[in-house]
Amino acid sequence: MVGMLKQQSFFLFVTLFVAALICVSKAVEVSFKQNYKVTWGRNHVLFFDNGREVQLSFDKISGAGFRSKLEYSSGFFRMRIKIPTKDSLGVVTAFYVRNLSYRKHDEIDFEFLGNKGGPYTLQTNVFASDEGGREQRHSLWFDPTIDFHTYGILWNQHQIVFYVDETPIRIFKNKSNKGVSFPSNQMHVTVSIWNGEPWASNGKKIDWKQAPFLAQFQMFNIHGCQSHNPRKYDCYSPHLWWNGMKYWELNPQQQREYEDVRRIHLLYDYCSDRGQLHKECQIR
Ligand SMILES: *[C@@H]1O[C@H](CO)[C@@H](O)[C@H](O)[C@H]1NC(C)=O
Ligand SMILES: *[C@@H]1O[C@H](CO)[C@@H](O)[C@H](O)[C@H]1NC(C)=O
Repeated sequence: MVGMLKQQSFFLFVTLFVAALICVSKAVEVSFKQNYKVTWGRNHVLFFDNGREVQLSFDKISGAGFRSKLEYSSGFFRMRIKIPTKDSLGVVTAFYVRNLSYRKHDEIDFEFLGNKGGPYTLQTNVFASDEGGREQRHSLWFDPTIDFHTYGILWNQHQIVFYVDETPIRIFKNKSNKGVSFPSNQMHVTVSIWNGEPWASNGKKIDWKQAPFLAQFQMFNIHGCQSHNPRKYDCYSPHLWWNGMKYWELNPQQQREYEDVRRIHLLYDYCSDRGQLHKECQIR
């Protein structure tokens, strides 16, 4: 009897503890409006959960997009994303940081190229000083249309790392001392859903009978260094956690995970295709 009471109170304690944890983790999620604003397709945007979840829709009339209110010069940018469940060939859902100033286009991006039946392809790319064409494509080890997953872009003076949940899938090292440009402009964090015909659909047409295509987003807190506040140089300070030594290179375990992903999930790498056009493909 006593043992059972003990067991019950222990169970109650665990339940309360878990409930408290959930409350705390909910509380740190900030609302969309705190850091972001809608930039286009306003009537294709819906808010849920007091602005902690946003849905963008895409149909024949419009897609939609939003971006951070501020610009950043370093950071670890993350977003929880669920992409359209339907056959969405040609519909691109993208999460990226970008600066489109004249002749110095810098961009680090995740792009889901829609699919039809088959597994989803995740494309990543890096533009620095207008040099792009650095596509890599990966298959995923889960279905990104069913659940939210976290996609992350680490950007500091040493490297850019693309993460899918906790797994690093791509690294772009700062080799500017070897003449390879590295993104250095102030960036907005940007999200959009748009018509990628024909390049994202291999020339095929979007199946409009499936419209509207719906993508959901969560996690609107931003871990980044505001470019103007106070000086850009401070965005390289090692006191910002994403600039710390831990983030200069992958640790051995991450390195193993990264190599496994490359071995099993890498579908396309620009370096194997057009490596002669890109200096970083020729140096180790
Ligand atoms: C890239 O690395 C060089 C040192 O090799 C550094 O001076 C430069 O600031 C870095 N670039 C960026 C954009 O962080
Ligand atoms: C692009 O970067 C430049 C220089 O870093 C900055 O002055 C400008 O505000 C940025 N523009 C956008 C649209 O992010």
